[in-house]
Amino acid sequence: MNKNIREIYFSPSGRTKKLSELFVDNFNGNKKTFDFFLKDEIKNQNLGEEDLLIVTLPVYAGRIPKICVNKLKKFKGNNTPAIALVAYGNRDYDDALLELSDILKEQGFKILGAAAFITRHSIFPEVAENRPDEEDEIKIKDFANKCKNKLESLEINELEIKGNRPYKEGNKKPLMPTGDELCINCGKCVRICPVEAISKNNPRETDKDKCINCTACIYNCPTGSRTYHMEQYKIGYEKFKIDNAKRKEPEIFI
Ligand SMILES: Cc1cc2nc3c(=O)[nH]c(=O)nc-3n(C[C@H](O)[C@H](O)[C@H](O)COP(=O)(O)O)c2cc1C
Repeated sequence: MNKNIREIYFSPSGRTKKLSELFVDNFNGNKKTFDFFLKDEIKNQNLGEEDLLIVTLPVYAGRIPKICVNKLKKFKGNNTPAIALVAYGNRDYDDALLELSDILKEQGFKILGAAAFITRHSIFPEVAENRPDEEDEIKIKDFANKCKNKLESLEINELEIKGNRPYKEGNKKPLMPTGDELCINCGKCVRICPVEAISKNNPRETDKDKCINCTACIYNCPTGSRTYHMEQYKIGYEKFKIDNAKRKEPEIFI
């Protein structure tokens, strides 16, 4: 069945986008992508039964990024099928997939399927460094096929998605990227930051109240100046690597 595919992702360091593309590629139909990382305002979108919405978001402290919630609320479904995906860095996705599915349902979508996949941890990039990998790709394709079959059968059951309500409280931000003497004032981080947390006059500084720690400035800095310069990070990184060394596998709800 051909549908109009509406793809949404938010991907400051690129792996959520990769997951979304690997998944969405399996669907035929006229495709339109909404990149929530861009600062452009999103107009209200009314979707119908002929559409299929596929939303892929990263997990931030066990939740979906707050910055995405208002953008998601611009999308209204009318019994429109939707697929919810979250990308997480091999620790846990906690309540993020449930939260995303709940928002989509409130907005008038029917959840066809939901899944959590593992992607490189953008803060601790040696964790799940090469994911999604070939094994994940097989599972991504398999999940897409299951969703397509379900779409054909026109039977959408109520899914039991892992997670708790009330959702986990997001933890306080202990970390924040800044720049150092390697900074050449190119301004790339200033332009790319989705919340305007980096000062034009001194791009080495970060506004700690605005920063959402999305890591986009780190991955886009041409000199490696922007990173976590605090000692606390190095200590935390070692512990995080040990605690999260065991490979996790994707979880699928259909
Ligand atoms: C602020 C922040 C919080 C995160 N919290 C979690 C988490 O709770 N559990 C987890 O396994 N990974 C967590 N991650 C890792 C991301 O979910 C993962 O790296 C994801 O791929 C990032 O998406 P991106 O590559 O599209 O930017 C977090 C990353 C960031 C930046």
